[in-house]
Amino acid sequence: MKPYFITTAIDYTNAAPHIGHAYEKVLADVMARYQRLAGREVYFLTGVDQHGQKVQKKAAEAGLDPQQFVDGITEHFVTLWKKLGVEFDGWAATTAEPHKRVVQAILTNLHNAGQLYKAPRQGFYSVRQEQFLTEKERREDGTWSEEWGEVVELEEENWYFKLSEHVEWLKGFIRSHPDFIFPAFRTNDVINALEGSGSIDLCISRPKERLTWGIPLPFDPDFVNYVWFDALVNYISFAGYLAEEVGNTGLPDFKRLWPANAHVIGKDILTPPHAIYWPTMLHAMGFSDTEIPQLIVHGWWNLRGGKISKSVGNVIDPVQLADTFTPDGLRFYLMKDIATGYDADFSEDRIMMAYNKELAGGLGNLLNRTLNMASRYRNGVVKINDFDDEVCASLRQVVADAVAAYSPKMESWAIHHGIEEAWKIVTAANGFIEQTQPFKLAKDETQAARLDAVLRHLVEALAQVTVLLNPIMPVACPKIREQLGWVLPEGFTLDKLTWGLIPDGHQLGQGTPLFPRVEIEAAG
Ligand code: MSP
Repeated sequence: MKPYFITTAIDYTNAAPHIGHAYEKVLADVMARYQRLAGREVYFLTGVDQHGQKVQKKAAEAGLDPQQFVDGITEHFVTLWKKLGVEFDGWAATTAEPHKRVVQAILTNLHNAGQLYKAPRQGFYSVRQEQFLTEKERREDGTWSEEWGEVVELEEENWYFKLSEHVEWLKGFIRSHPDFIFPAFRTNDVINALEGSGSIDLCISRPKERLTWGIPLPFDPDFVNYVWFDALVNYISFAGYLAEEVGNTGLPDFKRLWPANAHVIGKDILTPPHAIYWPTMLHAMGFSDTEIPQLIVHGWWNLRGGKISKSVGNVIDPVQLADTFTPDGLRFYLMKDIATGYDADFSEDRIMMAYNKELAGGLGNLLNRTLNMASRYRNGVVKINDFDDEVCASLRQVVADAVAAYSPKMESWAIHHGIEEAWKIVTAANGFIEQTQPFKLAKDETQAARLDAVLRHLVEALAQVTVLLNPIMPVACPKIREQLGWVLPEGFTLDKLTWGLIPDGHQLGQGTPLFPRVEIEAAG
């Protein structure tokens, strides 16, 4: 069976990562881990976008050679992914030689197929966005909005990709493939953009006198490739596309992987790059409709309703947040406080609450109480017996319902709802302790069987919840299992998640607090 192939946007290496970058990689990592848990083979590709004007400029400012500069920034990303437990199978760094070879081969093929032409163009150019602007982007008073940064008037010859030849195909494709873009409501933006500027071809080169930090066009040495063309190709170059033709080795078998099941990207890079440039590029390269990947478009994390950006000085450092709330604490917050596809506001109060109230107070407390009681009353040994009553049955039902509801939520990228399902078990199990009052049962010899059943239900519910939460908290969940003295069997998949994971006579491990409470000063 074809592996589940997931990619993310590759991050610009012009500045260190912020919480938005972290969110996207964690989202993809959670999905990759979930798919593995569901029994599928997975290939997860992510990486860094290292060429372009912004990098050239930043490197010059830092007095570094661009490669040195991008290597330094790349290190920040790699270190962060390691810290956050983002585990990928392929690393797409666009300055890698195998990638450059594929980009050049694609350019040559498109050139030979008559898909590229050279033409002069005069107009306004945004240095920050590295693109020519049209009148549509201009304000009524003739000025340009801030997002474009410095705008200069330029006249230059460049190479163009005949994107306009593929626009009719793209419109038809979008109409007949309602799944192409998730969530579907974002499709309108693409349709509108296609109506507005569908007749414009894509400039795919930059003259070397202006930009040297890029991949040279194989058929015209005075130009380098436009950074977006280069960057989008990562999805196939690192998946083994044209590997044999260009002599690349050690890459996956492209035929097995492609098409990607999901390109995970932010809403800002849907239109035009991923929804217009990318499918038309693939179409021009000869990919069929069934070989166009699905786009999973997430929203943005904002800060007090505004954009998180370096320029406004409000960058939230994911490294610091992971230090304060543990990497899994940060992952948990980033997954539960946003609905995939929509924006969310980052809030220190809310991450503090997610950590202290839900992880420490909810899950951590459940684990501690269970282990303490089991240790005190039964020397940490789980006993399975015939005792049953409505309270026990009702907890079993909550667990079974949550397990059943979890997968459809995760499959449809509603990770926050997947967490909600798992949390029903945590809440019910904590309530179960209040209802059954094991500390009272322990004082009454005649209630011994009931106490055994109560403890066993708690341990089993905890074991099950660690499986559901494993993709979200891949460090804390194994640690909980360690305290339960239980290891997830090798190759365990969700279909095996049924009541009875913990056998009779099972010896529980030692309890130690997993989520020590964070005080306000420490977070501030
Ligand atoms: N290099 C391009 C992508 C090329 S993909 C072939 C790029 N890089 S980026 O570093 O600016 O952004 C990387 C990803 O992070 C994008 O998907 C972007 O949407 C996402 N985010 C950047 N800021 C974000 C938030 N504040 N919130 C959520 N995601 C955000 O674009």
